[in-house]
Amino acid sequence: MCGIVGYSGKKAAAEIIMKGLSKLEYRGYDSAGIAVCLDGQTKIFKTKGRLSALQELLDKNGAPEGCVGIGHTRWATHGEPSDRNSHPHGYGRVTLVHNGIIENYLHLRQSAETKGAKFVSDTDTEAAAYVIDSCYDGDPVKAISKALPQLHGSYAFGIIFSDKTDTIYAVRRDSPLIAAQGDGECFIASDIPAILSYTRDYYLMDTDEIAELKDGKIRFFDLSGNEITNGKKLLHADFDIEAAEKGGYPHFMLKEIYEQPDTLRRLISMHTEDGAGNIFKSEIPDTSDIKRIFVVGCGSAMHAGLLGKYSIEHLCRIHVSVSIASEFRYDDPMVGPGDTVFIISQSGETADSLAALRLSHEKGAKVCAIVNVVGSSIAREADEVIYTRCGPEIAVATTKAFTAQVLIMYLLTARLAYDRKTVTEEFLKNYLSDMAKLPELAAEVLTDKYVQLYKKFAAYNKPHGDYYIIGRGQDYATGCEGAMKIKEISYMHCESYAAGELKHGTISLVTPGVPCMAIITDPDIAEKTVSNVKEVRARGGHVVLVSSCTGENADICDEYIKLPQTNKYLMPIVAIIPVQTYAYYTAVLRGCDVDKPRNLAKSVTVE
Ligand code: G6P
Repeated sequence: MCGIVGYSGKKAAAEIIMKGLSKLEYRGYDSAGIAVCLDGQTKIFKTKGRLSALQELLDKNGAPEGCVGIGHTRWATHGEPSDRNSHPHGYGRVTLVHNGIIENYLHLRQSAETKGAKFVSDTDTEAAAYVIDSCYDGDPVKAISKALPQLHGSYAFGIIFSDKTDTIYAVRRDSPLIAAQGDGECFIASDIPAILSYTRDYYLMDTDEIAELKDGKIRFFDLSGNEITNGKKLLHADFDIEAAEKGGYPHFMLKEIYEQPDTLRRLISMHTEDGAGNIFKSEIPDTSDIKRIFVVGCGSAMHAGLLGKYSIEHLCRIHVSVSIASEFRYDDPMVGPGDTVFIISQSGETADSLAALRLSHEKGAKVCAIVNVVGSSIAREADEVIYTRCGPEIAVATTKAFTAQVLIMYLLTARLAYDRKTVTEEFLKNYLSDMAKLPELAAEVLTDKYVQLYKKFAAYNKPHGDYYIIGRGQDYATGCEGAMKIKEISYMHCESYAAGELKHGTISLVTPGVPCMAIITDPDIAEKTVSNVKEVRARGGHVVLVSSCTGENADICDEYIKLPQTNKYLMPIVAIIPVQTYAYYTAVLRGCDVDKPRNLAKSVTVE
């Protein structure tokens, strides 16, 4: 996820682009850059770091003059954050900015290199610039149309051709882009806030529709080069700037909850295209040397590890030990040569997780990082990295990064099971095809019908101070994550218990009216947990049942969230999304600062 802006008009482009980018920094801030055209020349300024670093560079050197330009704020996916990997990128006659991922970039680069092409960055974007340049014969629309079928993945591009520096071209697929019309000027942007200071009138760009911005006017073309004259609707943005940055959602957390069907879809399609045997092949080429697995993380990342343990142990029969990083680092862990340690971290900067990584290295183990932020310390120091690629997460309480981490654990399960032949080919085929449907199920539990239930049930919690969640096996681990969500944002005291353990102490805390939740997604042990739910209700506990495998039954629960069903080993992803959303509404109704809960930080870089 990156932010792009383009301007074509009569004013100084650099200033307008910088202002636009400042509204898109939430989309990433690993590096920033602009390209501005004057008298047939395109000047590029770019640097690693936040937009303020680019501003300093411009202040020092003088901002480039010109009324046409493009800009970019980067959230690194391919290639560490560096000056070299910053956008805009150029190849031949093409300069461009890109938001998205070109999945076949390695293949494109390698085949270009055999023809003598030379690349200066590690990015997928530069390969796209090469392809467009190689298709260019003086007609930009034709070149873009010819290049797009060669680019697999997602993109929003802003493009300048060196012999047409009075014009910006833009095109998108699966990455957002608008084209906005001002008075004698026009813009492209990844998101509306970037242009709101100049105009509120914009077009949504459709997939593979090419926009041409010239002389203050926007024209659209299809891939056959025909101008689209009908059907483009000029829309009017009437919301305020702050709301627009959150995509119209009241909080980043809710926006990120709703992004999950897309983040899951992207990860699944990226890794499963060629079947289980190729999952992570480029990140972990060989799993045959994995004997014992250790998973280490903090907070939600550790919970993702607990879910991974469950599926790996069940389906691959490898022992998995899960540790809290702050414990692992002082525990003289029995890890050593031949062991593989997976360090899970959204930020890649958590101090305890980084220390656990270094300790694992000292003890001779191999370390594989599962990280969201590209080029972060943990990603840099690990032997191998698998990225969760779900875009910047702004809300302190993690949602989309957590489900992406769990998904990586499930992909890893498939790969290990494939390599070890611990499940049948048919099971694996069904597992992957059920996985491909997970985004649909994630979207289903976010439909209005469900959300109304979450809101209604959350209202019950308002006057209460304590909350208990029970589940068995993987449902217990999902409960741990659910309890974390509830306590960190709604400030209710909330604990998750293994359902059978409740009677060994905690049930004494269940008094009439105390809100509880039971999670049941494993049909094989559903009845056991149902018995525990009955024990809770017999003491007056008020139970919300989140289940895919029990019927709605007034004897069992007070409130019921019926989950759509899939392979039981994938169910935690379906189950946690309702709990996240329910926790969100609980916090909203209790008047809490959802995105910035008290005493907490997004990235904990101290011990
Ligand atoms: C903080 C965040 C949690 C996160 C944990 C680990 O406590 O609030 O949401 O799970 O750190 O962070 P990491 O970046 O390592 O995943």
